[in-house]
Formats: sequence, structure tokens, C-alpha cells
Amino acid sequence: MDEAALQQALTDTQNLGEMPDADAVGTVGSPDCGDMVRLWIKYKEKDGKKVIDKASFQSFGCQTAIAVASIATELIRGKTKEEALSMSAEELSKPLGPLPPMKIHCGQMVEGALRAALEAENKPAASSAAPVVSDQSGTLADALTAAGKTQGKIKIVLTS
Ligand code: FES
Repeated sequence: MDEAALQQALTDTQNLGEMPDADAVGTVGSPDCGDMVRLWIKYKEKDGKKVIDKASFQSFGCQTAIAVASIATELIRGKTKEEALSMSAEELSKPLGPLPPMKIHCGQMVEGALRAALEAENKPAASSAAPVVSDQSGTLADALTAAGKTQGKIKIVLTS
């Protein structure tokens, strides 16, 4: 892993924080360390296509998870859902270089949160009047408290 790139990503963290007007949200916990990432997505129409306008995240995770989430939320901007879904954890963390074995799950956790958000928006509820994110509102701290029992397992918390 490129330590300088990691430090740069942490110093210049992008898109950190809750997005109250998001179209979709996904939350994933890591089985390896109990850390969590929540990722919000907002779409827009561009040239007749629905693309990701912006994304944000919160993380109770290690520095690598925060750096990958920061980079990933920038990399997916302007992409369609399908394009974003096709991105692997490796691609989402590419600017950091190859992650060491102990840190691979950090990138996978971000990929999981991204997939959860992209797929949550895919559900029929997305087209109804009910907000997709109805039971995922609030901060990750709320979810972490509520999900205290889920540590040690991959679990998408409170999907709609
Ligand atoms: S997310 Fe668990 S150590 Fe990085």
C-alpha cells in the first residue's frame, strides 16, 4: 500500500458525513474487525441517463476504510448504477496501491456498502412514495448502537 497516498487521502478526506436528501443508503459491517461503513448516494439525470450525482459516507473503521470510502465516493461520481456495481474493491482503492492482506477486508467493506446502497435503490420501494432510506436515517452512530449484537458477522444493517 502506498503510505503517502493513504496519508493524502486521510488529510484530504472527501464526502464525509450524512446526506439527508440521499436517494439510497447502504450500511455494512466487517466480519473481521467489527468496523462499519455507511454510504449515501444521490442520483441525477445526465444526457438521458441516470448517473450518480454525489455520494457520501460515515465510517467507524480504520484509516484504510476511511481512505477507500473517500476515494470511492469520488470515483463513482458520474457513473451509472451498473458501472458502479461493476467496480471491485480493488478498483475502488486503486490510488492506494495494492492493500496488504490484513487490509483487504477494509476495501471490501466499502465495496459492500456501495453495493448495498446501489441495490437498495433498485428495490420496488424506490419508485413508491415511501423514502427508500426511511429506516436508515440518522447517523452511523445510531446504527452502531442498534447493531451492537451483529458484530462479528457481515450484516447489511437496516436496509429498507
Ligand atoms: S475496516 Fe477493519 S481494519 Fe480496516
